[in-house]
Amino acid sequence: MGNSSASLPGRHIVLGITGGIAAYKTPDIVRRLRERGADVRVALTHRARQFVTETTLKAVGATLIEEQDGPQGMAHIDAARWADMVVVAPATAHFISRLASGAADDILTTLCLATEAPLLVAPAMNRIMWEKPVTQTNCRRLVEHGTMLIGPDSGPQACGETGFGRMAEPASIVHAIETFWGPRSLDGVRALVTAGPTHEPLDPVRILTNRSSGKMGYAIAAALARDGAEVTLVTGPTTQPTPVGVRRVDVTTAADMLAAVQEHRQDGCDLFVGTAAVADYRPEQASPGKIKKGPASLTLVLVRNPDILSEVARWQPRPYIVGFALETERLEEHARQKLQEKNLDLVVGNLAGPGTGIDSDTNALTLVDSNGSVSWPSDTKIALAQRLAAEIARRLNRDPHGRQN
Ligand code: C5P
Repeated sequence: MGNSSASLPGRHIVLGITGGIAAYKTPDIVRRLRERGADVRVALTHRARQFVTETTLKAVGATLIEEQDGPQGMAHIDAARWADMVVVAPATAHFISRLASGAADDILTTLCLATEAPLLVAPAMNRIMWEKPVTQTNCRRLVEHGTMLIGPDSGPQACGETGFGRMAEPASIVHAIETFWGPRSLDGVRALVTAGPTHEPLDPVRILTNRSSGKMGYAIAAALARDGAEVTLVTGPTTQPTPVGVRRVDVTTAADMLAAVQEHRQDGCDLFVGTAAVADYRPEQASPGKIKKGPASLTLVLVRNPDILSEVARWQPRPYIVGFALETERLEEHARQKLQEKNLDLVVGNLAGPGTGIDSDTNALTLVDSNGSVSWPSDTKIALAQRLAAEIARRLNRDPHGRQN
């Protein structure tokens, strides 16, 4: 994360603040931007003033944009011209809907519409509001119109729920602003990521599957895209929202997943990350009709599924390949075994247990490669994914054998 004292020298940043609880974190954003040499002007909506005071924002070095400031009350036009970037954090569902519809009925929406500067929006809202198709459609619309989105993160929320909707942390927002003007560590890297479980049909209503939520894989796809990679995410059935800037391909079975991976190989692949919890076996035959209750016991014949990672390891040219190992015991030993058997470059091991690994928001990772291993302590999957993306970038730059021309 940028520790350079002047990574944003003289940059003009307009910070728009809307009325969500996360507004209390905005003085920290201002402080971090100022530390990096940026000039910061802030525009608050009426509701934002209930969560953060002008006094606090001024105290950390921001200038307030007020309608009466500009010539003939044209502060919004003045600020829109002045800005090198407009950042809205937190952006409520209501604000996002107004922005997506082109509204210009207060100083902040007017400023966003009137500027030619890049726009970065950090959504923050209750989990259910975030997941609503209308909010997702509004966000997609913003992205289609060139707006950059950051977050939201997942975790405990002010409303008492847990899930996606928390504003991205100030450090991440400032990092996104810094990296916008600088080269990103994974620029030009084409990445294929698998995520989620697979569903193997037994009959038209029953499946064989596992408890993977897809959270880790989606977090990795988001982190790779944030660092500049062109990401295709081949995903089994999950309820996770598609990360911003990621191309998503939905599949159901392991065989579908392999076919989709092979199809997208044509687009070029420098990096392959297999986080999917692919079912190792599938029913030999899916019954065309519902299997009826009958004898006291029923024997199912299962056959092995293809191993996607091992297939990818045979590709020429070969991408840099990262596999995952979810274990209940002897993590490092099993991870090392997978590294060798599947011919991988890196295996990321995690233990399944209460509050970690499968279906949880947190995880602890052990990275295993041919040189040794390193353990990263428990953290959110989002934070670990960002750390892993940085680690992968470091490895690709040191050993660019995975990059195709
Ligand atoms: O062999 P195991 O399933 O434990 O290995 C886990 C790793 O292998 C994960 O990276 C997973 O995505 C990948 N895998 C795969 N195809 C399979 C099974 C697992 O790519 N059929």
